[in-house]
Amino acid sequence: MNATLTDKEFEQFQSLIYQQVGIKLDTPKKSLLTSRLGKRLRELQLPSYQAYYDRVCAKGGEEELTQLVDLISTNKTDFFREPGHFDFLREQVLSQVQATRSLRIWSSASSSGEEPYTIAMTLTDAIPDRSRWDIKVLASDISTRVLAKAAAGIYDDERVAQLPQDVVRRHFLRGKGEQTGKFKVRKHLSEMIAFRRINLMAPAFPIKTPLDVIFCRNVMIYFDRSTQATLMGKFYRYLRPGGYLFIGHSESLQWIEHQFTYVKPTIYQKPEA
Ligand SMILES: C[S@@+](CC[C@H](N)C(=O)[O-])C[C@H]1O[C@@H](n2cnc3c(N)ncnc32)[C@H](O)[C@@H]1O
Repeated sequence: MNATLTDKEFEQFQSLIYQQVGIKLDTPKKSLLTSRLGKRLRELQLPSYQAYYDRVCAKGGEEELTQLVDLISTNKTDFFREPGHFDFLREQVLSQVQATRSLRIWSSASSSGEEPYTIAMTLTDAIPDRSRWDIKVLASDISTRVLAKAAAGIYDDERVAQLPQDVVRRHFLRGKGEQTGKFKVRKHLSEMIAFRRINLMAPAFPIKTPLDVIFCRNVMIYFDRSTQATLMGKFYRYLRPGGYLFIGHSESLQWIEHQFTYVKPTIYQKPEA
């Protein structure tokens, strides 16, 4: 079977992906979509890209849409990626919530979990009387595949090898027997985190308590300006006054309308009431 992705089919996928996920696939991405989807077509034994499109749009096609997103987006992440945010969390945010000893953080495109576990490691190491604090980290992503990996909390040794030995000892269990070469995050980290599937395109998010910090790193880059602006409006509503938004190092709010106060590169704050 050798299906061809016609221009019309490509346009259908472009608008579907844009509407559902916010990702704008420009024309040079046609060959990427052809090759990545082609493999999926063969796995599902579908005769054409149109047949695949129809399957994604059909009732119950939501799970396949997730697969489609996985094919076109990157899930690249790391423990302590862009470490300045974790320093800021420890040095600035913690002192501001010291009086209430309560903290709500959302890792909103958490991929395979390295980001929320880094938040949990940072807080555990920085708060000596942790048991007297009320801390909750929400970790979400559109992809159920990466979320399952995140919730399992099991990583290959080459990923964990980037971390200092004492950090590994405090926060990971070394696999034995069949699990040799793997590391599992310890319970004190996973207990802090709830994993959920949330599409950042949704008009509202299932979050009731105002947030102290939102991490939205290395996902906005896929969205166009109007999608980014809408998302910033939503984040603004879910943050408490004085709460912070962290974005990725190659992202900026410079060209979009928003109400945040600039703190320093990639860090923004909702003004105090
Ligand atoms: C490059 S990873 C970033 C991971 C992490 N935040 C970091 O900076 O290391 C981007 C993640 O965004 C997720 N994503 C893409 N579109 C999304 C959407 N509309 N809603 C929620 N997550 C989305 C992808 O599934 C992917 O896991």
